Amino acid sequence: MHKTLFGALLAAATLLSGPAAQAQQIVIKFSHVVAPDTPKGKGAEKFKELAEKYTAGKVKVEIYPNSQLYKDKEEVEALQLGAVQMLAPSLAKFGPMGARAFEVFDLPYIFPNKEVLQKVTQGAVGKKLFEQLESKGIKGLAYWDNGFKIMSANTPIAKPADFQGLKMRIQSSKVLEAQFRALGALPQVMAFSEVYQAMQTGVVDGSENTPSNMYTQKHYEVQKYALVTNHGYIGYAVIVNKPFWDGLPADVRTQLDKAMAEATVYANSISQSENDDALAEMKKSGRIDIRVPTAAETAAFRKALEPVYGEMSGRIGKDTIDMVLKETKPTGL
Ligand code: LMR
Repeated sequence: MHKTLFGALLAAATLLSGPAAQAQQIVIKFSHVVAPDTPKGKGAEKFKELAEKYTAGKVKVEIYPNSQLYKDKEEVEALQLGAVQMLAPSLAKFGPMGARAFEVFDLPYIFPNKEVLQKVTQGAVGKKLFEQLESKGIKGLAYWDNGFKIMSANTPIAKPADFQGLKMRIQSSKVLEAQFRALGALPQVMAFSEVYQAMQTGVVDGSENTPSNMYTQKHYEVQKYALVTNHGYIGYAVIVNKPFWDGLPADVRTQLDKAMAEATVYANSISQSENDDALAEMKKSGRIDIRVPTAAETAAFRKALEPVYGEMSGRIGKDTIDMVLKETKPTGL
């Protein structure tokens, strides 16, 4: 009888402690649109590993890659509603939210190299941009690199005139729209997850993206030509739902900040090699003709794209552009 009562009590206690313990675990849903095998995908995995380790399992990070939960624009709405807690959208995705200063990152040829880029994101400009997100219920935690964009198309592309009339997929960004209009192309806004099929069916003729994105989404299977223009940049802001983040126990948040700082160093340290490897793999495949433009060809693209600065400065804010250009000179446009 005693034994049975003890057994019953134990069973009840187990029943209670199971769900109760689970209820205490904090779950962070981290949604993103790219493949796991990319700079962003690997950064997310690193954050999960470190966050779970440093919080001794108090926090569980669930990663949902490849737009399996949400496509580009929907994911930001989901974050604001609290359906997911963490995202790392490309910087181009912030303009449509009303944080237009972020569009400075989309300007063609604004960053001569990654060092200058990181001076901007890791410095005062990066902080100032994050402040613009707070009123939208979003907190910016870190900037993660992807890399410089290259062009791809189904017809040969070596000079600005080759883009005349081409339907080019872009992220939803006014600057990217102006960029392709300056080349005489027809920009088409489209979610990242839809690009492969659009290329395959001829809905678009080409696009711009980083080698790691083109490789992992298999764009090189449905595009004949690529030009290593490095004309623009794709990087990410790791963001969280602000009320969720502010409501975390302070000790947990400290550990998560530490995990994020280390995951950021890791993600930024692998981004270049990930893109170099992806470019090499695409070349090796023999399925796409990849060219590096000559100095004269690059000069022709820079000249054709220069008017974009003047057209967009009213939107982005001349002060923001100047702040970035100050870091990029003398090599900036
Ligand atoms: C795109 O939409 O092309 C990229 O921003 C996707 C990404 O997150 O790298």
